[in-house]
Amino acid sequence: MSKVTVIGAGNVGATCANVLAHKDIVKEVILLDIMGDMARGKALDSWQQAPIDYYSTYLRGSDNYEDTAGSDIVVITAGVPRKPGMSRDDLISTNAKIVNMVTESIMKYSKNPIIIVVSNPLDVMTLAAYRASGLDSSRVFGMAGILDTARYRAFLATALDVSPKDIQAVLMGGHGDTMVPLPRYTTVAGIPVTEMIEAADLDAIVERTKTGGGELVQLMGTSAWYAPGAAAAQMVEAIVKNENRIFPCCALLNGQYGLDDIFLGVPVKLNKNGIGEIIELKLNKDEMQLLHDSAGHVRAVIDVFNGMKL
Ligand code: NAI
Ligand code: 2OP
Repeated sequence: MSKVTVIGAGNVGATCANVLAHKDIVKEVILLDIMGDMARGKALDSWQQAPIDYYSTYLRGSDNYEDTAGSDIVVITAGVPRKPGMSRDDLISTNAKIVNMVTESIMKYSKNPIIIVVSNPLDVMTLAAYRASGLDSSRVFGMAGILDTARYRAFLATALDVSPKDIQAVLMGGHGDTMVPLPRYTTVAGIPVTEMIEAADLDAIVERTKTGGGELVQLMGTSAWYAPGAAAAQMVEAIVKNENRIFPCCALLNGQYGLDDIFLGVPVKLNKNGIGEIIELKLNKDEMQLLHDSAGHVRAVIDVFNGMKL
């Protein structure tokens, strides 16, 4: 794997490209945006960081899809972010058209790329890219679970005064306020989290996680980018290094968890082929109900998307 394209050189895309370059695992990163000079400027700035931070990954900015030819992996961050008072779902009318067009343009120049979608509303934009690409579903998936889990892990690390490195967790469902953090699958260096924290405090962290994106929108007037950019770069790394890492990703379900024909956050194994396996946890009745509620919410947004007839 030698070539990664990041579409959208805004907050998330530029961060993803920069974090990826620091990993020094791919030959070249193309940063493409309709604002071509901005993409060229950010790529050049990141490349000028290479002698300081010691990486060889070359970054090139562009507004021309010919430059994306032969990409192994494409990360789609193009689109508008939400503003205070907006939900992720409010972005659909603008972002669906953008993701559709971007995916078609990518497919003109790359035969069989792996596509990682970041644009919101994430679960439905991943479906949009899947449909527009014609690729196998193992090669089109979305980034949200790593970010949402990271927020949950960071809140727990603060509450317990431990390193975030030692918090392991799984979170499932759609990338919205109905996401499903799973305390039963959360450990602190192998110790069940329920042995380390009062139930009420854990509940408060679960609730804060669900609205974690909105908390940042309120603080900054736009949505987050450091953790989202790093999360997408971590997915690229797992693919490039063929690591078989297990991450919550937005993947197409065909019967798993009793759900069909829907992109939703579930734990998957990521390797050089994309999604190597969808992992089915033995959820209890309450957890399964929450997952299905979240799927119901995503399906309502899919209906809006289908109504757009793109
Ligand atoms: P931003 O506004 O900083 O950057 C978006 C970029 O997309 C802009 O530079 C814009 O020029 C570009 N763009 C728009 N239309 C384009 C097109 N047709 N082709 C190429 N580039 C195009 O926004 P930001 O903060 O980077 O967020 C990007 C998207 O990612 C938003 O939809 C946001 O909601 C989503 N997001 C998703 C997360 C997740 O967990 N899945 C986390 C954070 C953001
Ligand atoms: C987030 O959760 C906006 O989806 C983005 O920060």
